[in-house]
Amino acid sequence: MCNKIAVYAGSFDPFTNGHLQIVKEAAYLFDTVIVVIANNASKVRKYDLEQMRIAIRECLKNNNLHNCLVVVHDGLIADYCAEHHAKHLIRGLRNTSDYMYEENIAKINKEINPDLKTIYFRAENETISSSMVRELMKYGKDITQYVPEEILTILKN
Ligand code: COA
Repeated sequence: MCNKIAVYAGSFDPFTNGHLQIVKEAAYLFDTVIVVIANNASKVRKYDLEQMRIAIRECLKNNNLHNCLVVVHDGLIADYCAEHHAKHLIRGLRNTSDYMYEENIAKINKEINPDLKTIYFRAENETISSSMVRELMKYGKDITQYVPEEILTILKN
């Protein structure tokens, strides 16, 4: 039987409810979804990778997303997909600027791994971003509506 594997990659610094919505949709369509916390060379991480990995894993488990796993990868995402037989790379789109940005990356990823297809899921809440959550957090504002409970715990710590 064919096991359809998809990779959902991102910096997830932090993982938000917007990301969770995308994982839910992917988990419905694919047999296995690998959530990959990857490194964006132009960003400096704020939250610890391993703590974020464990919190995302807990969050997915509590949402009954049992066909999802969470890993950390330091390298090219297209190579990771090839090594793990994932033929689909999922990205969330919030607006047209996301689309322009993603299309560039999708083309480069396809050059690295010609078998890889990038597919887009429409983000239901186009206003959320990880940096917005970090900014609100910095000024002591309530972010409970933007991040899952499991993630909130590590942000508060
Ligand atoms: N809900 C909430 N936020 C969303 C979202 C959604 N559905 N979709 C996108 N975003 C936001 C993120 O919160 C993030 O916000 P921020 O910029 O304020 O932090 C932003 O959109 C994009 O972040 P993310 O999806 O994490 O992508 P990224 O551009 O930071 O990183 C990687 C993407 C990590 C997958 C990419 O850099 C990568 O593949 N790195 C590995 C090396 C590699 O292969 N590079 C590609 C060669 S060109």
